[in-house]
Parts: sequence; C-alpha cells; structure tokens
Amino acid sequence: MTYGLSDLDSRAFREEWMMTTNLEVLEEPVGNKIREEHHTTDKRAIIQNGGNSMTLEMDKYSGSGIGSKNDYLFGRFDMQIKLVPENSAGTVTAYYLSSQGPHHDEIDIEFLGNLSGDPYILSTNLYAHGNGGHEMQYYLWFDPTQDFHTYSIDWNPQRIIILVDNIPIRVMHNRQNIGVAFPTRQPMMLYTTLWNGDSWATRWGQVKIDWSKAPFIASFRNFNANACIPSSSNNCYGFNSGKNKGLNGETKMKLKEIHAKWNVYDYCRDFRRYAHGLPYECRKTNNRKGLQDEDFE
Ligand SMILES: *[C@@H]1O[C@H](CO)[C@@H](O)[C@H](O)[C@H]1NC(C)=O
Repeated sequence: MTYGLSDLDSRAFREEWMMTTNLEVLEEPVGNKIREEHHTTDKRAIIQNGGNSMTLEMDKYSGSGIGSKNDYLFGRFDMQIKLVPENSAGTVTAYYLSSQGPHHDEIDIEFLGNLSGDPYILSTNLYAHGNGGHEMQYYLWFDPTQDFHTYSIDWNPQRIIILVDNIPIRVMHNRQNIGVAFPTRQPMMLYTTLWNGDSWATRWGQVKIDWSKAPFIASFRNFNANACIPSSSNNCYGFNSGKNKGLNGETKMKLKEIHAKWNVYDYCRDFRRYAHGLPYECRKTNNRKGLQDEDFE
C-alpha cells in the first residue's frame, strides 16, 4: 500500500514530548482528509495543497510536528524537505520512525541547524529494543535550505537504508543472528517535527537559538510511504514478497564515496566515548560476522 501526506495528522508537539518517547496516541483517521480544525488548533503545523505539502513552524512558545495515523512494520518512506533557511542554529528538524512504549525502536534522520552560511549536519541514529548510540553524521553536498530534496528511510527485515535523493548514505544490516538488536518486531509510526535542540545540536550546544529570528519554518512535500500496516491478515515479514534488494556494486561504491567525503561522525570510530570497547558490531573481528554473502564487497 502507498500512503501520502494525508496519512499524517498535524498536531501540537510540545517540546517535553519530544524529549521522551511517550508521544501521545494519535487521533483516529478521518477518511483521507486532514481535519479542518487542525488549522485552527495548531497553526504551527499546516497541511496544504490537498495534503501534498506541509510546513512546520517553531516560535519561542513551541515547536511543532506531525505523526502518521497508521503504524507500519517495514516499508519505504520518502519525504521532500526544505530546511529552515538562514540562521537555523539550535533548531532540529527530524524525520523518523518510532514505536511506542518501553524498549522502543526508532530510526532517525535529524537535521541539525547552523548559523547562516555554516553547514547543517544530517544525523542518523537507530534505537533497537531501547538501545541507541548508533549515530552517524554527515554534511550534505548541497544547500538543503535552497531546494527540496528527498530523504528516505527504507526499512525491511534484512536491513535499513537511509537515502538522500535516492543515494544511499547509510546501511544498517540485520545481525540479530550474532546478537545485535535490530527492529523487526514492533510497528512504528512516522513523525516529522521541528523543535528546540539548542542544548546539544549546533557545535555541541555552544550556539543557541536566536529567537529574534523566529518563527522558524521548514517545508515538506510529497510524502510517500510504500509500507505494510500489520494486521491479522497482513504478514509484514513477507512485505514486497520478501524481495528486498541490498545495494549493488554501483550503489556500494557510491556509499563508500559518500562516507569518505561527507561523514563527520561515526559511532564506530568514537574511541573516547567507547573507551571500554566499541559496540560489538563495530569491532573489526565482528563487523562482518552475520552478514549474508550479498553484503560483502
Ligand atoms: C556548524 O558550523 C560549524 C563551523 O563550520 C561546524 O563545525 C559544525 O559542524 C556545523 N554544524 C553543526 C550542526 O554544528
């Protein structure tokens, strides 16, 4: 099934909700239309254009966000995003999947704002069964505030691929067979949010939001999900008939190139943070274990 922006529900996200995983339960879907009252109850998240485009705003009182009406187990989620322009330091625009409740799973793309002319950072992370700490961060090879670009999460039982304009920038393989947690059991909802992250986001929290520049506005369009909604009749493990292709030779090359050129942080190389030993899957002797043949270069 494919879903569009009309599968999303605009709603106020207060900042404290963002800091926890206890996001509120979403409202029931009302057909395919966005409910009118959202335009008045939350002016910060506005869906226009028959559900094809959306803006999120943050002012000094609140950020904003939307969440999907459905939860999904596996799928590919594409969104075109144009980030907060000019001085966006301290703002975080997030596009992510998350399950509810304890031991949650989460797949994150977060854009860390910056001063005018300084580069955004695209930060990716994975929480599996409540464990995060898998950050990889990148500079982008274009100005993400000038135009819309497509950001995608492709989540299937074998692997998660993060893509920018259809170019894979990160692949996380399922290595449950060697004991590394991976999200395969809990359905997740999709969220996009704009919020205040100035305690950590820009130059490790040194640069704060300049509220005289508010409101901050990020734009979204053409959300598309080709995803499985679990139900008694829907076995999502066989979603896409199980034909989830990994990278081919060409895209593997591209991935390597992106990593070499644009990666600015890799948790697997953070020897200070993991002074007592890198996470299991990062250690040289383990980082190929549990991979299927097609994953080898
Ligand atoms: C912001 O700009 C500074 C200076 O160029 C850079 O070091 C930093 O990585 C940039 N991004 C963020 C999110 O801090």
